[in-house]
Amino acid sequence: MIQVKSRVAGWVGKLVVRRIQKKGIDLSRLSFIPEKTKVPLQRTGLDPVPRIAEIRKTTPMHRLDLPFNFNIYLVTGYEESRRILTDRDSYSNDIRHMFHGDGPATSDDIGGLGFTDPPLHTRLRKIVTPEFTMRRLARLEPMISDIVDSRLDALAAEGSGADLAKHVAFPVPFQTICALLGLDYEDRDAFEKLGSARFDATNGGAAAFGAVSEQREFLFATVAKQRKEPGPGLIGQILLDEGDLISDVDLAGLADGVFTGGFETTAGMIALGTIVLLRDPAYADMIRNGSPEDVDRVVEELLRYLSVVQVAFPRFAKQDMLLFGKKIKAGDVVLASLSGANRDPKVVGERPEEFDPYRVPESGHLAFGHGIHRCIGAELARMELRIALPRLFQRFPDLALAKPQEELSFRQLSFVYGVDELPVTF
Ligand code: HEM
Repeated sequence: MIQVKSRVAGWVGKLVVRRIQKKGIDLSRLSFIPEKTKVPLQRTGLDPVPRIAEIRKTTPMHRLDLPFNFNIYLVTGYEESRRILTDRDSYSNDIRHMFHGDGPATSDDIGGLGFTDPPLHTRLRKIVTPEFTMRRLARLEPMISDIVDSRLDALAAEGSGADLAKHVAFPVPFQTICALLGLDYEDRDAFEKLGSARFDATNGGAAAFGAVSEQREFLFATVAKQRKEPGPGLIGQILLDEGDLISDVDLAGLADGVFTGGFETTAGMIALGTIVLLRDPAYADMIRNGSPEDVDRVVEELLRYLSVVQVAFPRFAKQDMLLFGKKIKAGDVVLASLSGANRDPKVVGERPEEFDPYRVPESGHLAFGHGIHRCIGAELARMELRIALPRLFQRFPDLALAKPQEELSFRQLSFVYGVDELPVTF
């Protein structure tokens, strides 16, 4: 009987996986996930839910009770998370094995760096890395400044009470990535429409890891187009450098990974960062009038404190093994809670729940992950935040939330935390 039950559970599990594969993951709609397993993706306002700290105090690794034979272990400590993220021998990021033998729609649909293992990961990452060096990024700086200024103009034109998320937080990273990828203006408009369609369909809740999006199909078409006539950005440059060595699928997957990696994350940081800085006039003043070092401190502490990417990419155990003294099986998932790790008092210091730009030790936070999958866009994200936040506070000295924080529409159960609307007065 137990065997039959377990077989049925395994079979239903496969169906669920197939559904996720086809439609993307919108966790807010998966009603079968038991309440207590949603913990790593939930928040209380800007903070991880208190349960995360309780788990961290009691165990290095906590089993989330999921149905259908999925085993997911949550790691909430800083050192423990780093250990998982560095250990490339024991874990795989390759989500494709979950769909093995499930028909033609397998490896072509899912890709991007985050779900790929060496040696393919090493090869693909080497191809995009030159586009993210400080020297190349410095070229983007004046353009990011212009984008920020034009979005602040748009906010001002809308008048006091306007939505900062719609006018600034989302468009700044969106336009930055379009320029980085080298999409022309016509393509950007079309791309943006697809983006907002996805947003509506998922109620704003899905930074869907591995989702097969229309945007990816669009990027696929863009790559095919640029293969004939390379554009000025990352896609065109890679086509010039690599030629036939890179396939349209791999390049579209990379571009899509860059887009999904860099859009909602940075948008979340701009919107939520604004909320944090508005809580205390001293912080607002520090970002408005501070030296570049002050601005860096504020941005780094915001990254730690907000940890908008709540969990790292899932790591799949490659073989049966012992983890923190407990047995786990090949295929089990280990999930590093970055928001948990970044509030670990053992490393972050006393009162991790406080926002403190002068924190000692200065946090070597995990907001961008760690190891071979560490965020490739970290310096670009920092650049956007170091430009956008000071300019916002300089331009609007009387900036304030138009509603109390408790009434804002924070994301529910998403991998990337954020807020969909942020009305402000000025
Ligand atoms: C504040 C904004 C951002 C945050 C907090 C963030 C955070 C992260 C995290 C936590 C990971 C996964 C690390 C792991 O599982 O080990 C990641 C990976 C990645 N991010 Fe970011 N990210 C941000 C902005 C960006 C930007 C601007 C881009 C590109 C334009 C980008 C592109 C990527 C890519 C391509 C990966 C996969 C890297 C790999 O697997 O080798 N991210 N990011």
